[in-house]
Amino acid sequence: MSSYAITGASKGIGREFVRQLATDPNNTVLAIVRNPGSPDISELASQYPNVHLIAGDVRDPKSILNTASSAAAVTGGKLDVLIHNSNAVDAATMSLNPSQIPFDSEATRAIFEPPFSTAIYGGLWATNAFLPLIQKGTQKKIVHITSAMGDVDLILGSGISYAVAYSVAKAGMNIQVAKYAAELAPQGIKVIGLSPGWVDTWEGEKSAAVVEGENFMLKQFQSIVPSLEGQIQPGESVSKAIKVIENMDIKSSGLMLSHNGDRENWF
Ligand SMILES: NC(=O)c1ccc[n+]([C@@H]2O[C@H](COP(=O)([O-])OP(=O)(O)OC[C@H]3O[C@@H](n4cnc5c(N)ncnc54)[C@H](OP(=O)(O)O)[C@@H]3O)[C@@H](O)[C@H]2O)c1
Repeated sequence: MSSYAITGASKGIGREFVRQLATDPNNTVLAIVRNPGSPDISELASQYPNVHLIAGDVRDPKSILNTASSAAAVTGGKLDVLIHNSNAVDAATMSLNPSQIPFDSEATRAIFEPPFSTAIYGGLWATNAFLPLIQKGTQKKIVHITSAMGDVDLILGSGISYAVAYSVAKAGMNIQVAKYAAELAPQGIKVIGLSPGWVDTWEGEKSAAVVEGENFMLKQFQSIVPSLEGQIQPGESVSKAIKVIENMDIKSSGLMLSHNGDRENWF
């Protein structure tokens, strides 16, 4: 029997982790969401008795500490695997190149704050809040969902110069993962950054601008992987990611791995 806690579980990849992990009735799955009333995730929780919905916002240290104590009450104080998946961006400025970041401290902070507060600060607070549970767990695994957008070779190979704050935050997340791995190795705790691939998590109909943006990005990615046809579905991404989590060991601790389990096949 394994226990999992997933942050940012209301939609997309987070919700798919909950769905796939819940299909094994021996698993206990803690779905951490800012709003437990979100319709799709509450429907999933009503379908699977092993899914426990817990309120928590990784941007708020007090909130996520309360989340961890509610989680401990469900699992008897322990946890096998923490998956920190929450992420936010300022969509309005994602297309800016670094030279276009304004000479305006407030505007610049507003661009960087969403990914920093979720990926960087949120990654620290969620991990620290759940660490006492992980220390008592059997598997002792911590996973931060990162992105190959924070990989220098991918940036240079594709020429993707926009999404500055998002990419900087994910690169920072990868460093934090390495720091945790170095600190926690003596306790047998494994920590990885896991890139889920390029995944279609858009909800609802895509506008012409969204489709155009995705096609533009596809062409850039194709300069690294000419055979790439487009995004994968959350189901494929998560089933591969779960295998990578199953195979985590002290040797790979501290690294950013793809959903394919390596450090090069990011799609
Ligand atoms: N989709 C891709 O192609 C792709 C590629 C590489 C990496 N990733 C990474 O994979 C993870 C999941 O991606 P996704 O596409 O499934 O993401 P998503 O649908 O945009 O959202 C992920 C979750 O983050 C939480 N969240 C959103 N805005 C937030 C905010 N302002 N403050 C706090 N939490 C917020 C939400 O969870 P709650 O409402 O439940 O709290 C949401 O369910 C992210 O870390 C993302 O960076 C995705």
